[in-house]
Amino acid sequence: MANGNLKLAIQKSGRLSEKSLQLLRTCGLDIENYSNRLIVTTRNYELDLLFLRDDDIPEYVQDGVADVGIVGEDVVIEKEADVEMIKKLGFGKCRLMLAGPENEDIKEIQEINGKRVATSYPKILANYFRDNKIQAKIIQISGSVEIAPSLGVADYICDIVSTGNTLKLNKLKKYMTVFDSEAVLIGNKNIEKDSDKYSKLKNLIVRIESALNAKNSKYLMMNVPKDSLERVREVLPSLKSPTILPLADESMLAVHAVIPSDMFWEIQKDLHEAGASGLLLVPIENMIL
Ligand code: PRP
Ligand code: ZN
Repeated sequence: MANGNLKLAIQKSGRLSEKSLQLLRTCGLDIENYSNRLIVTTRNYELDLLFLRDDDIPEYVQDGVADVGIVGEDVVIEKEADVEMIKKLGFGKCRLMLAGPENEDIKEIQEINGKRVATSYPKILANYFRDNKIQAKIIQISGSVEIAPSLGVADYICDIVSTGNTLKLNKLKKYMTVFDSEAVLIGNKNIEKDSDKYSKLKNLIVRIESALNAKNSKYLMMNVPKDSLERVREVLPSLKSPTILPLADESMLAVHAVIPSDMFWEIQKDLHEAGASGLLLVPIENMIL
């Protein structure tokens, strides 16, 4: 598709698919119903979405089949793709972990010596073994790694753990973390050479940053008696100065402030005690700093 559109690859079906789409929609991209199509053009932005297997995304971005991609950091490292790591996206957090039978307990990594470990991440695991001076056999499997121990193919596994449900279902338990991962935005290293695409990418990054900022912040509104204002301001995080507005009742003020989402429950009692009332906490859709 040589239409000059920015080509963004996301996972076709898997842990990151829904949240990747959700992020793009929060960025204001109007994505039509894509049921089973591999390429979808957004209605209000010069961007084509490519739905791919996550394992293929780093290489496609490296080769310029896609200009940018959203994929797990684990996959980018495993594929040793030569791409730009543009941004961590704060979702899809998971750990690549060594795991094994529920009735076994591994406390020291040395206990893995001489064992067989099944994984779809042979390169990351080999590095980990090398760093920890472990001699173990790595058995490379492309999917359903979790059944390897019960099939007798391996003693342990090294696989992605998110909720832990897959391990539990297979009567496995986690031992130790090999790698922490989350979704990242990656880009082709030559994109700067195409100034038109590069400016589309920069615009997309601004939108993504705005959506991420907004997700971490909330807009707090409250009424405060004039003579309590100082005490209330002491409780509020001092990142930005709050907006202060007059009210019809001249002894009162309205105070508005952007606060970190997780802070509300920490400070609401102190705000009350400082004299604030009518606290309203509302979500923010986008925020450009
Ligand atoms: C990983 C892993 C497990 C599952 C673990 O697969 O291989 O199947 O996630 O998640 P849980 O702890 O929440 O049960 P992934 O989503 O990376 O899919 P893929 O191997 O098909 O790429
Ligand atoms: Zn995968």
